[in-house]
Amino acid sequence: MKKIILAAAATTLLASTAMSAHAAPAKAATCVGCHGADGNSMVPNFPKLAGQHASYLEKQLKDFRDGFRKDATMAPFAKSLTDDEIKELAAFYASQPAK
Ligand code: HEC
Repeated sequence: MKKIILAAAATTLLASTAMSAHAAPAKAATCVGCHGADGNSMVPNFPKLAGQHASYLEKQLKDFRDGFRKDATMAPFAKSLTDDEIKELAAFYASQPAK
């Protein structure tokens, strides 16, 4: 019995981890206009985020937020992000196929 409960718990955990890798985090709503819903932006001025490495995206967002990377258009959107939100956004865009 104990084994069955453990297996069920593990399955639920795996399923929710897999889902969270693909569902857009709430903060992504502010990024859609420039970077596209799945990180494939339509405009060349706005870099594609889809399929880039999560660790790279995470570093860029922190650099914008903390002023190490400067861009008047992008920086204001990074300013209010917490470390956790940045991690979620980076994981989300990294999991999207680049088109
Ligand atoms: C008003 C348009 C705009 C919005 C909204 C916007 N960005 Fe950007 N973003 C840009 C521009 C422009 C650049 C390129 C800046 C540069 O040339 O350094 C950029 C760059 C980036 C990069 C670096 C990409 C790379 O390849 O180095 C990341 C990561 C990023 N944005 C994430 C986000 C996230 C996450 C959001 C939402 C919280 C967001 N952006 C909202 C315009 C925008």
